[in-house]
Amino acid sequence: MPSTPPSTESSSSPCDSSAGSAPATSTLLDKIERALADRLDAQPDPPPRLLAAARHAVLGGGKRLRPILCLRAAVAVGGRIEDAVDVASAVEFVHAFSLVHDDLPALDDDDLRRGRPTVHKAFDEATAILAGDFLLAVAAQSAAASPVDAGRATRELLAATNEMIFGQLQDTLGGTDPSLPEADQLRAIHARKTGALIAVSCRLGALAGRADEPTVAALDRFGGVLGQMFQAVDDLLDETQTTEHLGKAAGKDREAGKLTYPRIHGIEGTRRLIESMRESSLAAISDLGLVADPLRDLVEDLAVRTR
Ligand code: IPE
Ligand code: IPE
Ligand code: MG
Ligand code: MG
Ligand code: MG
Repeated sequence: MPSTPPSTESSSSPCDSSAGSAPATSTLLDKIERALADRLDAQPDPPPRLLAAARHAVLGGGKRLRPILCLRAAVAVGGRIEDAVDVASAVEFVHAFSLVHDDLPALDDDDLRRGRPTVHKAFDEATAILAGDFLLAVAAQSAAASPVDAGRATRELLAATNEMIFGQLQDTLGGTDPSLPEADQLRAIHARKTGALIAVSCRLGALAGRADEPTVAALDRFGGVLGQMFQAVDDLLDETQTTEHLGKAAGKDREAGKLTYPRIHGIEGTRRLIESMRESSLAAISDLGLVADPLRDLVEDLAVRTR
């Protein structure tokens, strides 16, 4: 396996990692943006208002962490990017759906997302609910178009989507086992609401890259820990950054009484846990060799991201 020299690309976003002969992140982002827009625009005759709302939700920026992870996982197991674009897009469609509904008044009640009005503010609540539903169906279509084992890809994507929905319910209305310590309840919620989609991004990338089952399982473990770390950082940023910097309302979690890492572990405790999750996620892919370096670079960036 040829070694991959360090990236020479200047890096400003947490998803900007790239390494030597590995495809540049800007190349991956271009492919993702095109695939997302093409699939939305190929829908037969949607009501223009619904399509506009879906486009607002999907194409209005975002780090594209999940599809980048998916494409990077495919490359890390020796696969081809082209084989992973449909599953990568599928996960981003589910993510966009989850954000549209997460921002609704009945859930987090947020007006700002990615520096712009949330979908129910830019349109209306009925349109936002239906745009979310639409994006979930588009996600399933995208997974079903996968050139590699589309049936399994679709089943795994939808199972992870259900996990995300279960986690969102527990995050919003409670219902975790009250006999468990709060730290365990927190981990269980975050594993579902955020970890499941990040883990499936990695798993589907590995599957599209035609990895063997032990490697798929390693990528799944990697994604699960990374997802937990990602939400811990999100919780931390909610407390330590401004609304202007984040492009979404800061300070909302404490106000809403959410179970978060800073609430249970404090700011410094959260930083220590992020460091230990960073190490655990890297350990999960230690067998992958230099070809997985862009994934490792991504972990490093995500551990210190500020938005
Ligand atoms: C926000 O996800 C929701 C969480 C799971 C924390 P991202 O931080 O990936 O949101 P975008 O896609 O970059 O806007
Ligand atoms: C959202 O978590 C997780 C989802 C499944 C969408 P948050 O509610 O913390 O995400 P933000 O902070 O609004 O982006
Ligand atoms: Mg939420
Ligand atoms: Mg929210
Ligand atoms: Mg948050």
